[in-house]
Amino acid sequence: MKRMKKTFPLAFAGVLSLLLTCAQSYGAEVDEGKSLFERNNCGSCHTRKGPETRMPPPARHGIKGPTLWYAGSKFLPGFLAKWLAEPEPFRGVVYGTMKRGKYPHPALTEKEAAKVAAYLESLKDPEMPAGVVPRWKRVPRKVLRRARILFQKKQPCYSCHMVSIRKTVYRTRIEVGGHSAPHFKDAGRRLNPDFIVAFLKKPARYNPNGRMPVYGDKPFTKLSEKDFIALAAYIASFK
Ligand code: HEC
Ligand code: HEC
Repeated sequence: MKRMKKTFPLAFAGVLSLLLTCAQSYGAEVDEGKSLFERNNCGSCHTRKGPETRMPPPARHGIKGPTLWYAGSKFLPGFLAKWLAEPEPFRGVVYGTMKRGKYPHPALTEKEAAKVAAYLESLKDPEMPAGVVPRWKRVPRKVLRRARILFQKKQPCYSCHMVSIRKTVYRTRIEVGGHSAPHFKDAGRRLNPDFIVAFLKKPARYNPNGRMPVYGDKPFTKLSEKDFIALAAYIASFK
């Protein structure tokens, strides 16, 4: 008992200092990521301020890249570190006025990418509700069916968004859908399902200059909370 009394505070202090060191090194990584972002001139194409307002068309054409003020709410942890080292465009059409010749997107080394990712993941939308979409291990078939009908038939989301689906007839995967919006081929590794719901409800909060239609505000685009959740789970099922 005596020994317990002595070792317990010691063990407690050990754990505490370990936690503090972790928090400190995480903080340092975020700071380093921020300065790498600035040194690499990422800000010449990406703003970190938001929410933005809608711009008139001529000014809108000058936007060079997506805004990043909510990157930590949008992207799943781990995705950005990989993407920034090997960036492949998600959009079939060229973003803003960025010229074809300027692709590919600037790449970082793996070490730099991890730091910049830590920094971007720290940028959150404080108003975005969390825990909206249940983290199903396997999304119930009923939910997927509801979403598939919405996505492909009722609201033709895939006229703009490309998805990769399995054709049981040929036993192969095929890509179907348009190229005018980000593809969802690997959206389950990229997008936070709660962000998908928030974005569907208010696309203008996240991109007032984009062409994503608003759903749920007109009789023919009416989507319920259940529909939003089903769509988010469906999009997040592509891995
Ligand atoms: C010349 C302009 C330009 C520069 C410089 C640039 N980017 Fe980008 N970035 C883009 C464009 C355009 C896209 C959209 C790509 C797509 O979806 O096809 C993009 C996409 C992104 C995305 C995904 C955002 C989203 O919501 O889809 C991240 C994250 C990102 N860039 C981070 C960076 C970082 C970090 C740097 C600095 C190392 C950087 N970018 C430098 C133009 C640029
Ligand atoms: C008219 C074309 C169009 C249709 C139809 C459309 N979208 Fe979009 N969507 C877009 C565009 C363009 C963007 C990208 C906005 C931007 O520039 O950031 C987008 C962005 C998104 C995003 C964010 C993805 C990302 O990586 O930034 C989600 C999620 C999404 N749409 C879901 C849907 C769903 C679900 C439907 C159907 C209910 C749908 N969209 C219908 C054009 C469309």
